[in-house]
Amino acid sequence: MRKKIVAGNWKMNKLADEAVALTSELVNMANDEVKGDVKVILCPPAIYLTTLKKYIEESPNFALAAQNCSDKVSGAFTGEISAAMLQSIGIEYVLVGHSERRQYFNESNELLAAKVNIALEYGISPIFCCGESLDQRQNEDYIGFVKNQITESLFHLSAEQLLSVVIAYEPIWAIGTGLTASAEQAQEMHAALRAHIATKYGTETAEEISILYGGSVTAASADELFASPDIDGGLVGGASLKSREFTNIIKAR
Ligand code: G3P
Repeated sequence: MRKKIVAGNWKMNKLADEAVALTSELVNMANDEVKGDVKVILCPPAIYLTTLKKYIEESPNFALAAQNCSDKVSGAFTGEISAAMLQSIGIEYVLVGHSERRQYFNESNELLAAKVNIALEYGISPIFCCGESLDQRQNEDYIGFVKNQITESLFHLSAEQLLSVVIAYEPIWAIGTGLTASAEQAQEMHAALRAHIATKYGTETAEEISILYGGSVTAASADELFASPDIDGGLVGGASLKSREFTNIIKAR
């Protein structure tokens, strides 16, 4: 049974006391209001991971993700954070290939394959982000483009390794724009990616992979999105910074 997941990508937001307050509020709200087996993954700035771990350790349905990790094991890479370091503080997930990192830090599919590999090597589940631009959606084979991101960064993995990966489809034109993909648009891509995975790994493995949607998810849009057969949850940006809104999104899963 594939995992239901709602992840909150805080990006470069919140000061230390705000990060603690948000996490504490989310845990309390979820404990009171969220029923069922949804996994809630918080993706705060790395500087807060150690502190916030203490606030979620009594809540088994919560986990932490780093927003990035180096493809290197260790060494002279100033400013970088390694998968080994994340493992050493008990971090279970890491975002890999968020569109903002692809854009601002020129992260290629090849580099992201290396990041996926090292995360898996240290027992950390990659949340592999993929998605097309508005121009690609309007003028190109946008499904083929995203399928190629999956092929180039994930299709070297064994089926066992792939089952540790969560995929997050985030159409770039929906990120931070308030323009959420319709449930039909998202489902079209999710189904195509699952079918693409099945061509290589078989239907059984493809059916086990959690594929999240990200891009202006709100409590108002979550119900319809999460009702789609191939949408297993969300990767939420702006709305994850507000405890009530994010909790309502979690409840919709
Ligand atoms: O990683 C999630 C993020 O890219 C989506 O941001 O603000 O459109 O929900 P937002």
